[in-house]
Amino acid sequence: MPCYPAGPGGCETGFNASCCPSATTHSASPASLITKFFSILLLGLFTLLSYWLLVPKTGVKSPVQRNRNISILLWYWPFSRPLDLEGDVCWDLYAIPGCYIMDNHSKFSEADVVVFHHHELKTHRWKLPHHLHRPPKQKWLWLSLESPATNGNLTPYDSVFNWTMTYRHDSDIFMPYGKLVPKSVYRDGGGHAIPRKNLLACWVVSNYRSRQKRAQIYQSLKKLVPIAVYGKWHKKPLSAEELLPTIKRCHFYLAFENSNFTDYITEKLWRNSFLADTVPVVFGPPRQNYEKVVPSNSFIHVDDFNSTKSLAEFLHQLVANKEGYASYFEWHRNYSVKILSDWRERLCHICKHYDQLPAHKAYHHLDAWSRR
Ligand SMILES: *[C@@H]1O[C@H](CO)[C@@H](O)[C@H](O)[C@H]1NC(C)=O
Ligand SMILES: *[C@@H]1O[C@H](CO)[C@@H](O)[C@H](O)[C@H]1NC(C)=O
Ligand SMILES: *[C@@H]1O[C@H](CO)[C@@H](O)[C@H](O)[C@H]1NC(C)=O
Ligand SMILES: *[C@@H]1O[C@H](CO)[C@@H](O)[C@H](O)[C@H]1NC(C)=O
Ligand SMILES: *[C@@H]1O[C@H](CO)[C@@H](O)[C@H](O)[C@H]1NC(C)=O
Ligand SMILES: *[C@@H]1O[C@H](CO)[C@@H](O)[C@H](O)[C@H]1NC(C)=O
Repeated sequence: MPCYPAGPGGCETGFNASCCPSATTHSASPASLITKFFSILLLGLFTLLSYWLLVPKTGVKSPVQRNRNISILLWYWPFSRPLDLEGDVCWDLYAIPGCYIMDNHSKFSEADVVVFHHHELKTHRWKLPHHLHRPPKQKWLWLSLESPATNGNLTPYDSVFNWTMTYRHDSDIFMPYGKLVPKSVYRDGGGHAIPRKNLLACWVVSNYRSRQKRAQIYQSLKKLVPIAVYGKWHKKPLSAEELLPTIKRCHFYLAFENSNFTDYITEKLWRNSFLADTVPVVFGPPRQNYEKVVPSNSFIHVDDFNSTKSLAEFLHQLVANKEGYASYFEWHRNYSVKILSDWRERLCHICKHYDQLPAHKAYHHLDAWSRR
């Protein structure tokens, strides 16, 4: 019998004990019935393992590698905008196998996971199907990408949901607005091409509330730095097509979140700043929180400055310093930006994590959890 190759699966796990250094001492000891019994047992195990390793498996390449689909029932579409679920969506669009997304209520009893998007519960457009019998293994998933400031009081939803999908890292399924994907090759030569710019700072804002902290920062900063304001508030809305080309002309983008909560970092950073090739001036959770998801030299944090005056001075100096400004684009050599925005991709993501998610769980204090 050949010796099993060294390394994992070799001596550590005890297959073919005669090949292992420690086995020599065993065989040198007086031959007892017990030793023989274990040798035979190990031989048997080794034979089984070899068989399992060497005999080719059938059905190698097939989209469905499980023997059954995980079925995800979306109870209603977020913001009432249905998307096409024809065909094997998760496989065709995202190469995720064995994942079946459905939106037909008649499938309730077969669903492994039922998904509820918070906005429609909050606005009472939809109710939870408490009247239906919940299969014991079925998981109800709470989906929300909004901050607690927008979501309102969640205590009515205590002890309802089993899993969460939110922008928080500690959700069962972490669903950020975007992420950096490492590039396979490090591009040493030529840095990132920075578009031509003729404006200093830009801000797109629709829901302006003077009592929000971000509004106060804006009011104080605009006296020291020219800020071009777009969006509904200034009656200069930008269409999806106009958005990026418009903001690209600005050196800085005010990526001011509407509220300050752990991990609440939205498209203001990912799309409006990073995809638009502008340097974000962020306001939101503390710097360390941003540094969990993006490099420290990719953004300017309002908290880095003692006053808006020193922030304004910094911005003016940076524009005058080509190299300094360009250093905020260095990370493009190592990463590309991926925006997550299609609800189907988010739903298919559940299957990617399904096997690692807790089989038994309940959120008894959803409200407290969301505000931690
Ligand atoms: C899984 O779902 C896909 C997509 O709808 C379907 O084509 C396939 O037959 C299903 N597989 C199983 C094992 O149910
Ligand atoms: C939902 O499923 C039921 C039963 O399978 C079917 O009769 C009905 O046509 C489906 N509804 C839609 C909108 O697909
Ligand atoms: C945001 O919240 C964090 C943690 O609660 C706090 O440390 C920080 O000071 C807050 N930042 C601002 C600008 O309010
Ligand atoms: C900001 O304040 C801190 C502590 O009050 C002080 O040590 C630091 O020198 C100040 N920085 C600037 C740039 O004024
Ligand atoms: C990018 O990766 C290279 C090589 O791993 C590393 O030396 C460099 O510091 C990284 N640069 C940035 C901006 O992250
Ligand atoms: C799901 O949550 C509900 C409500 O808290 C609970 O009764 C049920 O046991 C949970 N199910 C699983 C599979 O964890």
